[in-house]
Amino acid sequence: MSEIIQREIDQYVLRTPKSAEMQKDAERFLPGGSSRGTAYFDPYPHFIEKGEGHYIFDVDGNRYLDFMINATSLILGHSNSNISSVVKDQADKGLAFSGPTDSQIRLAKLLTDRIPSVETIRFTNSGTEGTMMAIRAAREFTGRTKIVKIEGGYHGTHEDVAVSVYPKKDHLDPINTTPIPEYSNQPSSVLDNVIVVPYNDIEVTNQMIRAESQNISCVIIEPVVSSFGYTPANVDYLQFVRDITTELDIVLIYDEVQSFRVSPGGAQELLGVIPDMTTLGKIIGGGMPVGAFGGRRDIMDLYNPTNGGAQIGHAGTFNANPLTMRAGEVVMNALTPEVYSKINNLGEVLRNKLRAVFDELDLEVQVTGIGSLFGVHFTDEHIQNYRNVVNSDSDMKKAFFFGMLNEGILLQGGAAGSLNICTTEEHVDNFVESARKVALRISN
Ligand SMILES: Cc1ncc(COP(=O)(O)O)c(C=O)c1O
Repeated sequence: MSEIIQREIDQYVLRTPKSAEMQKDAERFLPGGSSRGTAYFDPYPHFIEKGEGHYIFDVDGNRYLDFMINATSLILGHSNSNISSVVKDQADKGLAFSGPTDSQIRLAKLLTDRIPSVETIRFTNSGTEGTMMAIRAAREFTGRTKIVKIEGGYHGTHEDVAVSVYPKKDHLDPINTTPIPEYSNQPSSVLDNVIVVPYNDIEVTNQMIRAESQNISCVIIEPVVSSFGYTPANVDYLQFVRDITTELDIVLIYDEVQSFRVSPGGAQELLGVIPDMTTLGKIIGGGMPVGAFGGRRDIMDLYNPTNGGAQIGHAGTFNANPLTMRAGEVVMNALTPEVYSKINNLGEVLRNKLRAVFDELDLEVQVTGIGSLFGVHFTDEHIQNYRNVVNSDSDMKKAFFFGMLNEGILLQGGAAGSLNICTTEEHVDNFVESARKVALRISN
């Protein structure tokens, strides 16, 4: 296998000499040449020149059909002219102010109108801050400190959720889902406050939550798990989590930073199980840095300063800056029910055609996803939880990622991706045909 990966990497290296040079230069000033773990891949990432619609162009002049689109965030594609025009207009009026603006009210209204669980909302600059503030609210609301998260779930980079995110296979307890530190000197107090449960396993989740119910502030969970190639939860599991959290007065937080794009009201609307709080990011900022957290008014009122001071402080120099708010407003207005059904249908077509290709080639591959999101796993295990994901063939995944890159198609490093409003049936067919070529190359 290493020979097959090397062949694909050699081809990539031949096509990207300028990027190789830029990486060397970048490494002089930035550790590993980058500011973002996901922007790097071995031997070096291609440096991007510009984006246009569905395509991005790297500094070596290679064009890629982009299914990475900045980790699902650019749902209108690159350099959308309506977004550019409000951003330019706002730049002329002022980039950021210490006082609130009308644009914040408009985006808040659009989101609270759409998302069933969100009565009021606060904006942040990242999804990380959104999940951090939602957890803080749950702790204050319940008077408890522990949190429950799933094994393999990613909710940003802050300490509380940086536990059992991508644990290595040989670090896992063979039977139990234990809290596994992200780095060797992570404080044990952090780990002591995190209960890690297996996704989609009602029996074990039930036991673990009941054993500690008096200390648990919240369950934070993605209804569609991004790092499992956008695997949606079984609805009976979500309903079970809803019921037990209601029964035990635990705040249920859905992290919809990525899954919000699957319907006007997010995955909660599509799957029909509604949490107490929701965290958002990615598409709601139109490509600008953004995050948000919202939910029940009584919980969110912990942040309300109008009655003699907020119970929890929440500052942020660039929170709800008008550039982000106006770009986000363009996105939300563009996403009509017709647009959702078009990209979600194309997503279904892509997943089905991919499955057909892998079946025809007699390869053990699972294609996951929902709506406009998809993931590819080289395994015969049905994807239900982190253990299934970690058992898949990571060499094949790497070869597939580079193979697709060499065919002019950009995926997320984890062989997952998303569609955007520029995606057409031809793009989907191009993707599927490239996947066939690559699968043939790497499986022989
Ligand atoms: C599910 C989920 N939650 C939270 C985050 C953190 O968002 P950000 O990168 O904006 O901090 C991400 C980012 O990829 C995410 O996918």
